[in-house]
Amino acid sequence: MMRVSFTVNGKDHEVAAPPMKRLLDVLRDDLALTGVKEGCGEGECGACTVVMDGLLVLSCLVPICQVEGKHVTTIEGLAASGHLHTVQKAFLENGGAQCGICTPGMILSAAYYLDHPDEARDIREALAGNQCRCTGYTRIFESIKAASS
Ligand code: FES
Ligand code: FES
Repeated sequence: MMRVSFTVNGKDHEVAAPPMKRLLDVLRDDLALTGVKEGCGEGECGACTVVMDGLLVLSCLVPICQVEGKHVTTIEGLAASGHLHTVQKAFLENGGAQCGICTPGMILSAAYYLDHPDEARDIREALAGNQCRCTGYTRIFESIKAASS
C-alpha cells in the first residue's frame, strides 16, 4: 500500500492503495465518483476518460502511483458549480446519450476540444478514441455541434 495525495475536481484527497491500483478504481471505489465508467478496461473505448493536469487520459491505464500531486477532473467536476456545462446541456437537449456508459468520457473529450480551438480537428476525428455502442454517433455529433455554436 502507498499513500497518494492529489486533487479531484478541486478538492484535496489522500488515499491508501496498492501502487498499481487503477485511477479508475480509486475514483469509483475510494472516492465514490461513479460518473467515470469502465468499458473495455484495456485502453480502447474511452469510457474511463478523465482530465489529468489538463490532458485527457484513460483512467483504466493510469496506476495510482502516477497520480501523486496531480489535478484530476471527472464528469462530476464539469458541473461542480451546480450548473451543467454547455456540452452536458447540449447532450440533454439533443438526445446525445442512451445507456450513458460512453457519455461522461464523450462529454469530457468534447469539452476538451471545444476549449482548445488551437487543437481543433474534425469532431469525428477528435472523438475517435471514444466509442459508443448505442447511438450510432449522429446525435452525439449533433450535440457537440450545438454546444459549439
Ligand atoms: S475502460 Fe478505459 S479505455 Fe475502455
Ligand atoms: S450511449 Fe450507450 S455506449 Fe454510448
